[in-house]
Amino acid sequence: MAKTYSIAIDGPAGAGKSTIAKALAKELGYHYVDTGAIYRTVAYFLDLLNVSVKDVDAVERYIDELTIQITYDETGKQHMLMNGMDVTDDIRTQDISQKASLVSAHAVVREVLLDMQRDVAKQHNVIMDGRDIGTVVLPKATVKIFLTASAEVRAQRRTDELVAKGQKADFAQTLKDIQQRDYQDTHRPIAPLKQASDAVLVDTSDMNIEQVLAAIKKIIQEKIPK
Ligand code: DC
Repeated sequence: MAKTYSIAIDGPAGAGKSTIAKALAKELGYHYVDTGAIYRTVAYFLDLLNVSVKDVDAVERYIDELTIQITYDETGKQHMLMNGMDVTDDIRTQDISQKASLVSAHAVVREVLLDMQRDVAKQHNVIMDGRDIGTVVLPKATVKIFLTASAEVRAQRRTDELVAKGQKADFAQTLKDIQQRDYQDTHRPIAPLKQASDAVLVDTSDMNIEQVLAAIKKIIQEKIPK
């Protein structure tokens, strides 16, 4: 098999990982893998079954009944299939964000999803975003970026996004949600969110998207031949 390149982009919720990763994937012709969507699909599945994401025994019992597939449409957009059903849009709620963060703390969930993520990277050049890509999923990733911004900036961006979509947005609540997820994602014992020792830190608090893209492209060019 030909050598594949992998770019790991980790960071907290709302740092702009998916926006940046999508743009880069398009430009480089890589597969974009949004790994958060996989955890969201697990949370959504359990939610439909009325299983508490905190109940590890129940999570362990039900997870075998779930088959997750990642597919891409003709525009390159990632779709999540839950036992064959497309749940791509259903998993994007605030409630599922919180539940995905809680369910992702269980070892049984992380183990099941690990091979699925690694398999994609074996077959394709990938840009994968998440929390533990550079530390656990792809420790030998060709390029590792840790993308972050202050919680206030991330909450403001999320609020602006919702307003732009014509949805209700409350800055204080969004900030609280972000801080809670930051805490959960960084304090779990298994594969917590943290910067890999060989990852390049990009703090986007005072940068716009173009500036972030330019900075990351420069980092990639130093590691991956054209
Ligand atoms: O990236 P996101 O906001 O869609 O992720 C939802 C949750 O999934 C996040 O709060 C923690 C979990 N997650 C994880 O534990 N590991 C990953 N690689 C990606 C997401």
